[in-house]
Amino acid sequence: MSNRLNTTPNDLRAFWMPFTANRQFKQNPRMLVGAKDMHFTASDGRQILDGTAGLWCVNAGHCRPKITEAIAQQAGELDYAPAFQMGHPKAFELANRLVDIAPDGMNHVLFTNSGSESVETALKVALAYHRVKGDGSRSRLIGRERGYHGVNFGGISVGGIVTNRKMFGTLLTGVDHMPHTHLPAQNAFTKGQPEHGGDIASELERIVTLHDASTIAAVIVEPVAGSTGVLIPPKGYLKKLREICTKHGILLIFDEVITGFGRLGSPFAAQHYDVMPDMITSAKGLTNGVIPMGAVFVTSEIHDAFMQGPEHMIEFFHGYTYSGSPIASAAALATLDTYKEEGLLTRAAEIAPYWEEQLHSLKDCPHVIDIRNTGLIGAIELDPIVGEPTKRAFSAFLKAYDDGLLIRTTGDIIALSPPLIISKEQIDELFEKLRKVLKGVA
Ligand SMILES: Cc1ncc(COP(=O)(O)O)c(C=O)c1O
Repeated sequence: MSNRLNTTPNDLRAFWMPFTANRQFKQNPRMLVGAKDMHFTASDGRQILDGTAGLWCVNAGHCRPKITEAIAQQAGELDYAPAFQMGHPKAFELANRLVDIAPDGMNHVLFTNSGSESVETALKVALAYHRVKGDGSRSRLIGRERGYHGVNFGGISVGGIVTNRKMFGTLLTGVDHMPHTHLPAQNAFTKGQPEHGGDIASELERIVTLHDASTIAAVIVEPVAGSTGVLIPPKGYLKKLREICTKHGILLIFDEVITGFGRLGSPFAAQHYDVMPDMITSAKGLTNGVIPMGAVFVTSEIHDAFMQGPEHMIEFFHGYTYSGSPIASAAALATLDTYKEEGLLTRAAEIAPYWEEQLHSLKDCPHVIDIRNTGLIGAIELDPIVGEPTKRAFSAFLKAYDDGLLIRTTGDIIALSPPLIISKEQIDELFEKLRKVLKGVA
């Protein structure tokens, strides 16, 4: 047994953990000390099946040699290069490789360090784009109820998850929200895209009429809303959003931080749903979750609009110290190699029917009020305990962990998104474990 085990520190107070019930955790810590392929190793030596690809990011599975070797080699060769007014080859190579797998027309990439930063970057590009085109009155941003776009001020302003917004004042001004698409009464237990709710997209027309198109810069949505508990776009919904945005000169941003890099069975959700946005935000699977990195894809039309004025002038006053850093770029290139060698950007399409069948076999388990799925994503919505929302799903999370399975819960919804390398046997194991958990929670 590795000597890394049983290294639980005896003082957990200093680290204020993110999106965590800190007091609960510190009374009974869940420490991970190793990982390989589909499993984590816990500090007590147990193997934990990863039902969530970490946080929707470890798409190729854990500790893949090509990626870890590329990082080690890059760290010894060129550890850092200034990101502003200087370059290094791997960032350019990576941008080209990303453009190759992105939807046609997404020809340029800005690098960031996270999904949240990708969102801030895309929103700023949208505002600046209209301004460089002489259309600076387009300053409004439209998001959607229940949307998650990270935790920075732009992202929580266009986002629609109340707990993530309510503590932080008035947020950005000039933001409006479309209604979410969750219609459990009509769509519960739908396999894949729901039949009902495509027409909710026309609410965008109402918002455009209210504010006037000339004031609106961009609409941002997750093609599949992930963090709110997996809301699959109803049939026709995304196409309708595209039509309305095009009609009114509004930029459409797909936040693909979760759906990017193969989660639905195509490299991006834009390809899966055959709807072309003007920008795509990504992160997570870009480096297989190993090194923080994000990327924003933009069309040539957007990019080219900025390429004007004196050539010695900076065209867009935005960027991060670590934009396209050498080690992150090396990790991302090795990740793309791994995806390519193993066909992982399309594997979810092959395994999705089996995943769907096994997931929906939990329909008769106690407390289950809805099951939703697309690609290698699944959600099981539980009936909340009266007066104690989130408690039932959190109990399921704790019990699953004790039983050797990592799931994710949000509200009373269990969200599943395993690494794209998962085998049929591991899918069976995952749902067997989950069935036992659901039968065991009060
Ligand atoms: C759609 C979406 N956008 C943005 C983010 C934020 O990403 P990060 O946590 O890397 O900042 C997430 C994270 O889950 C996400 O799902």
